[in-house]
Amino acid sequence: MKKNEYEKSVEELNLYAKHYYVLDNPITTDEVYDRLYHEVLEYEAQHPEDILPHSPTQRVGDSVSEGFVKAKHLSRMWSLEDIFNREDLEAWLKKTYKLDANISFYCEPKYDGASLDLVYENGVLVRGITRGDGNVGELITQNVKTIRSIPLTIEHKALIEIRGEVVIFKEEFEKINASRMQEGEAPFANPRNAAAGSLRQLDSSITAKRNLVFLPYGIGENSLREKLLHEKMQTIYKMGFRKPPQSAVCRNIDEIEAIYQKMHQERDSYEMMLDGMVIKVDEMSAQIDMGYTVKVPRWAVAYKFPALEKITQVKDIILQVGRTGAVTPVAIVAPVEIDGAVVERATLHNFDEIQRKDIRIGDSVIILRSGDVIPKIMKVLVHQRSGEEKEFVKPTHCPICASELLQEDVLLKCQNLLCEARVVNSIIYFASKPCLNIDGLGIKIVETLFKSGLISNVVDLFSLTLEDLLTLEGFKEKKAYNLLRALENAKGCEYWRFINALGIEHIGEVASKTLADAFGVAFKSVSKEAIIACDGIGEEMAESLLEFVRVNRETIEKLESILAPLEPLQKEEAQENPFKGKTVVLTGSMSESRGAIKTLLENLGAKVSSSVSKKTDFLIYGEDAGSKYEKAITLGVTTLTEEAMRGMLL
Ligand code: IVH
Repeated sequence: MKKNEYEKSVEELNLYAKHYYVLDNPITTDEVYDRLYHEVLEYEAQHPEDILPHSPTQRVGDSVSEGFVKAKHLSRMWSLEDIFNREDLEAWLKKTYKLDANISFYCEPKYDGASLDLVYENGVLVRGITRGDGNVGELITQNVKTIRSIPLTIEHKALIEIRGEVVIFKEEFEKINASRMQEGEAPFANPRNAAAGSLRQLDSSITAKRNLVFLPYGIGENSLREKLLHEKMQTIYKMGFRKPPQSAVCRNIDEIEAIYQKMHQERDSYEMMLDGMVIKVDEMSAQIDMGYTVKVPRWAVAYKFPALEKITQVKDIILQVGRTGAVTPVAIVAPVEIDGAVVERATLHNFDEIQRKDIRIGDSVIILRSGDVIPKIMKVLVHQRSGEEKEFVKPTHCPICASELLQEDVLLKCQNLLCEARVVNSIIYFASKPCLNIDGLGIKIVETLFKSGLISNVVDLFSLTLEDLLTLEGFKEKKAYNLLRALENAKGCEYWRFINALGIEHIGEVASKTLADAFGVAFKSVSKEAIIACDGIGEEMAESLLEFVRVNRETIEKLESILAPLEPLQKEEAQENPFKGKTVVLTGSMSESRGAIKTLLENLGAKVSSSVSKKTDFLIYGEDAGSKYEKAITLGVTTLTEEAMRGMLL
């Protein structure tokens, strides 16, 4: 790096930092920031005389923005050194073992959110402070009090500072962004920004609506006497704080690697975003001996996971027509590897989203791959535009059958029932896993069968013959036999699969199961009132079902006679017990999985519902019960601990 490049890089980093920390609106990824930051650091190490006073390396921590009162942490909030691979880990362990050879390590997830310091005096939460620059942060006590996983009082009476990360669960993040987009507001770039932004609202009623979650990871000022960190953390959890989804005490590198790999593999299945695993020396006395460098503790390190956000370029925007006729735009992006998968496409949901995010062909964008959902474009890097980018024009006609498109709510839809894309996609859906699960009937084969004229709807599938299939390119006897056998195996399927496979709008897997259980074969001839009386089925779904049956009765009956789906078994009547015929809601974490307890109660003849209402007879709660518990108390619903519920069955 030359001097002028160094100066430019400092400006660039400061611009990124301002957008990230002050405006809560990042314009690049952590990865790009960190890389540039390290380049700047390296240059400064070689040319200390050139160091600019406003270089981001010259401050420890982040700036504190206007608007909140400042507050000092009782003891400093540190950050962590990052490592990225086994080699780095070996080097870190070697360095650490040199300081003390006789140690073990407490490993827990590194949550991707905003750090928070809580001060309890006399067992009462008196202050909540953001990290700020590590010494001084912003006082946000009012906002913090709206977070349900933060106890307002604890039994421990001595002064204690509890540190942790405030996060937004992935599911909640999707909901918030969907509603922001509907309101015409810009979506949050990622769950971390959503958490940080929600925490620093001047109006705490906004914070309250965001369903933030606090996950403790450490202790500042305190008088706890446990000799091991993991014991201290147990004490914190017992005070009423959430436990990590995974943690372990490790004695050597292999144990550390094993738990790291496990967390990395399971990353998608956690409710919160993780960006790595934190490794901390477990022995408190060793932590004290090892101490700190100017920035970070010597007794802890962040072992990062591969980034989930990457920068790439939009090459094109193409249109897909689904089985319901909805035309959705999909971005084709320059291929990038994100945590083990090569990403080439990103969903754009609908045309409003392209407009709201102002996505143009040729734009550099940040894409996020979170969970197993299709990657999404989170942000356009407007400052990188060259002027050559092309705006995307919303289509007026179906790209497949050329018939006119109609706007229905946020969706643009092809109205032509015979549109090839609609027919082909509904056949693919019919054969897919949550429907009839017909092995070997994937996209390619369905397209071939349709194009050759052998099938024009799902009913035709069942009159295919060996001779038919052998006329197709790529079909030898074995493949043809396999397909015929798979079609034959679909006969006698469970009834809900039959309903689901029909592809009725708004009726998915869950609703199909409900309808199959409630009505079986009679689902085609029940009244609207009876349909709406089912748990989880509303007016729109009922109308969609009735309309579908009205238009397609003949096809449904034909398919039913071919497939002979099995009627669901009527459950045996349960013996008398306190839960029989009662409506029950479950919340919090219990000794067994929620599913297992649901089955137990259903076998007792209870109806297990997902939300608390006046009709609820019992709310059964486990640890960390949240809003459902409070709602039950407000509505005067009887609440029972899991233990009490089991007691009633003895
Ligand atoms: S320990 C003295 N543990 O990561 C040790 N930090 O990169 C200080 N973070 O500012 C931090 N999960 O906001 C620790 N399990 C965890 C964490 C964690 C997330 C955040 C924290 C910290 C940042 C450092």
